[in-house]
Amino acid sequence: MSDMQAVEEQAVPAGGWYAEDIERVVVSERRLAEKVDELAAQVARDFAEHESVLLVGVLKGAFVFMADFARALGRHGRHAEIEFMAISSYGQAVTSSGVVRILKDLDRDIGGRHVVVVEDIVDSGLTLSWLLRYLGSRSAASVTVVALLRKPEAATVEVDVRYVGFDIPNEFVVGYGLDYAERYREVPYIGVLKPSVYTRS
Ligand code: IMP
Repeated sequence: MSDMQAVEEQAVPAGGWYAEDIERVVVSERRLAEKVDELAAQVARDFAEHESVLLVGVLKGAFVFMADFARALGRHGRHAEIEFMAISSYGQAVTSSGVVRILKDLDRDIGGRHVVVVEDIVDSGLTLSWLLRYLGSRSAASVTVVALLRKPEAATVEVDVRYVGFDIPNEFVVGYGLDYAERYREVPYIGVLKPSVYTRS
């Protein structure tokens, strides 16, 4: 389940230091809020028989989605506990074998817990497939993935993402936690940068 209408072009909202760097909006703030609520409602319903779910987010990109998703889950009546991991980022130690480096591990035992991985974006799917293997090896009772964004290549990878917010085109996007060179994480929508940003010294 995902939403292809996200690719409709929208005007870049005025305001924010970043507005002049954004070429176009891929998912607006309003549509993000609606989708996060919809995903949380589905998860709350599907996990209704469990007392609580353990949300696991991958830093840093997932921090905004995690914050909104956990609050939406609470509004829909589900308790959530929150854990973060940090693993080596895109383009560095993520190899074709899908081996990544753990920079910050889970703070507690997840044995017997129903884990919901809260992912900002699935691109090649390598990070996620590694994470699922890792969480599986830590004896979670179940591991389910909710991803806000998914790029086309991910759809061909053997990784089970049960909940997907938006399928987006194969472009580099920023905002809502996603960065370019550690900037733009605070942008409240998902957008594409102007080419001039990449050629700046
Ligand atoms: P994958 O292992 O190729 O699926 O990459 C997943 C990670 O790469 C995400 O969690 C992001 O941190 C990063 N990433 C992938 N695509 C983008 C993008 O378009 N913008 C910003 N970060 C991205």
